[in-house]
Parts: sequence; C-alpha cells; structure tokens
Amino acid sequence: MDSRPPVNDWTIDFDHFDPRWTENPYPIWDELRQKCPVATSQRFQDGAYFPSTYADVHAIAYDSEHFSSRRVIVREQKLPLIPGPPITSDPPEHTPARKLLLPAFSPKEIAKLEPQARAVCNSLIDAIGDRSECDAATEYSQHIPVRLIAHMLGVDQSNGDLFRDWIYRSLIEGVRNPAAAMAAMHEQNAFFKQQVELRRANPGDDLVSFLIKAEFNGAPLTEPHILGTLRLLLIAGIDTTWSGIGASLWHLATHPEDRRRLVADPSLIPTAIEEFLRAYSPVTMAREVVKETTLSGCPFKPLGQVLLSFPAANRDPARFADADRVLIDRAENPHAAFGLGRHRCLGSNLARLEMTVAVEEWLKRFPDFEETRGKKTTWSEGTVRGPRSLPVTILKRA
Ligand code: HEM
Repeated sequence: MDSRPPVNDWTIDFDHFDPRWTENPYPIWDELRQKCPVATSQRFQDGAYFPSTYADVHAIAYDSEHFSSRRVIVREQKLPLIPGPPITSDPPEHTPARKLLLPAFSPKEIAKLEPQARAVCNSLIDAIGDRSECDAATEYSQHIPVRLIAHMLGVDQSNGDLFRDWIYRSLIEGVRNPAAAMAAMHEQNAFFKQQVELRRANPGDDLVSFLIKAEFNGAPLTEPHILGTLRLLLIAGIDTTWSGIGASLWHLATHPEDRRRLVADPSLIPTAIEEFLRAYSPVTMAREVVKETTLSGCPFKPLGQVLLSFPAANRDPARFADADRVLIDRAENPHAAFGLGRHRCLGSNLARLEMTVAVEEWLKRFPDFEETRGKKTTWSEGTVRGPRSLPVTILKRA
C-alpha cells in the first residue's frame, strides 16, 4: 500500500494504511483525542469516521439502531454485502446466530485444547533447534492459532500458507482491491463446501460437523450460513491471535525488566496477557452508519463507514490511568480488546488460552532473549495489528 498519498492532516484525512499509523499509531490517536475526537476521511467509499475515545467506541458498539455490523471492514471500495454470521448480523438475527456457537467455545470445551496447545508450542520451539537467532513471528506466533483452529475445524493443518494468503487478500490487499477480496472469498467457499460434503458423509467431532447439526430458529442452517460462519471462524481465529502472541513476545523482547519479572514469577503471566491485550490490542472492526446521529459533535451520515478501534479505546487516558504505559501487574483492567456489546469476541477463551500457553512455553525454554540488534520488527497494516516479522536473539536456553 506504499503508493498512497501521504496524510497531512489526520483530523480530516486519516488513513489507517499510512506507514506512520502502521509503525506507531499511538501518538496519532493521542493527538486526535485532544484536537478532534472523531476524525474523518474521504479515502474510503461514502466517507469514513474514526472515533478515538473509549466513550464514543463504547457508544457505537452498543448502538445497532444507528450503526450496522453488515460491513465489518472499512474498505476503499465497498463489496457486495457478504454475510458471516454472527459478526455481520444485526438484531434480531444476531442473537440466535451467536447462541448456536456458544457451546463450542465455552471455557470447558476450550480447556480441553490446552495439552494440544502446549504440544504445538513445544514442537515449534524444537524446530528452532539450537540457532541463536530466529523470527518469533514467522517461526512461532503465526503457526499456533492456525494449528488449533485447523484442529477444531477438522481440516488439514498443512494448509497454513493457504489460510494466511486468504487472510492477506481479504483484510489487507482486498481493502483497495475488491477483486482480490472476492476471489479469496470464493476460494474459501469452495474449500468449505468440500469439507461440508465430506462431513455429511462422515461426521466427526469438529466444528464443520457441529454446524451441520446446529439449528437457527428451529431449522437446520442454510448452506450460505454454514459457509459464512466457517469463513468467519477461520479468519477471526488466526490473524487476531497470531498478532496478540507476537505483540506479547515483542514487548518481552524489548522490555528486559518485564521479561525477568515474568520468568521469576510466572503466576503474573495471565495479568500480563490482559495488559498486552489492552496496550497492543490487535483488532479494529467497522460499522456502517444506517441512521444519522451525532457523537462528540460530529454528524455521522448514512452509508458512512466507521473505523471502530478497540485499540484506540484501550489507550484513552480518560478510561485507563497511565494508558500509554504497559503495566504487567495492572490490577483493574476492563479493556475492550475483545470488543464491547453484543458482538463481544466469541473466541476469547481460546485466544486467552493460546496467548497464555504461547508465552509460558516460550519463556520456559527461552528465559532470556531480545530483539535482534540491527534488524527490525515489521507490523501488519490495516485492521489487525501485530508483528509480521519479529527477529529475536536467544540469549539463554533452559
Ligand atoms: C487475541 C485474539 C482475538 C481478539 C483481540 C479478538 C477480537 C474480537 C473483537 C474486537 C470482536 C468484536 C467484533 C465487533 O464488535 O464487530 C470479536 C468478535 C468475534 N471473534 Fe474474536 N478476537 C480474537 C480471537 C478470536 C478467536 C480465536 C476466535 C475463534 C475462532 C474468534 C471469534 C470471534 C467471533 C466468532 C466473533 C463474532 C462474535 C459476534 O458477532 O457475536 N476471535 N473478536
């Protein structure tokens, strides 16, 4: 996305694909909160809005009368509406579409995956061998969620490159190239159609079989509903958590005092994970304005796209004391990384398990490591933020 015109005024021309936003968005958001809490931009079809305060993000997430979830990604050119229930559903369809998935993601079901999560992490660490340098994003973080969601869907884990390519084309390239996003969607549909046929003939203990048996308002799910939910679970389950694991390891690679503290006292890891989720929240969503309204003095016009930044809400000093400091023992931490309101993340138990296990197993085996000197961490562009390359030097092995 390097051919984009540079931003001169973030208040009226924001661009979340600008390299400065990708590299370090936090000072931009601080400036906006002080100067103009709702920024706007004409770079996206029908205009886009960026609310930068916790209060406005909260208000929008709870207001489906004015803000619809039918578009969940801000794009330069809108695509036809493509359902991915429940994330793209508004009331009244949302509640039953969400409810049917809840049993598969309950704390009890997800806890069963812990041994497998630990085994995946250790096999990735084994593959690093005795090298002193590695890439903690491409050799570790990115594979953990792929392997677990592939296991839950009952599909082959060796498809990781294919899944990551779909995610890239849907969420990054597809923002300005609708054909790329549509092609990725058709490929996913063809892939999952085949999986549905296989499971109809030979059901198993996996999410595809679970959806074939599930009901929506007393009737079996339609094929578009099943395919839309499977596409959603694949995309929501991979990029998000990979980014969360990578950002946690990046923090530990660049903050030796926090790394030493967690190694000395691993009981702090769950609190630290919540703080990494708050401070480096990976997921920004979108809404489409369906009825005119005003927030923080800014009129929101119908059809406008809203960049709904849970990451910006989590850095608002009006909501969190020392919002720009990362405090791994922060006691009160009601962060919005998993969203707010009816669409709050359905996979949060799984995400927390994966992030906790990934950091625990890494620190057990590599208690001392740092960002490799002279090499640079690179961050993903757009709506999901996390390290895409994280060069680290391992200073000590357990
Ligand atoms: C660190 C990792 C994750 C983060 C930060 C995250 C964040 C979010 C956020 C912010 C939302 C709200 C969307 C909105 O308001 O429009 C959401 C919804 C959702 N997430 Fe996650 N997510 C993560 C991991 C996962 C995983 C592992 C899964 C499971 C495969 C998952 C499945 C979902 C689903 C199905 C929804 C839609 C819920 C609904 O519409 O009712 N997420 N997530």
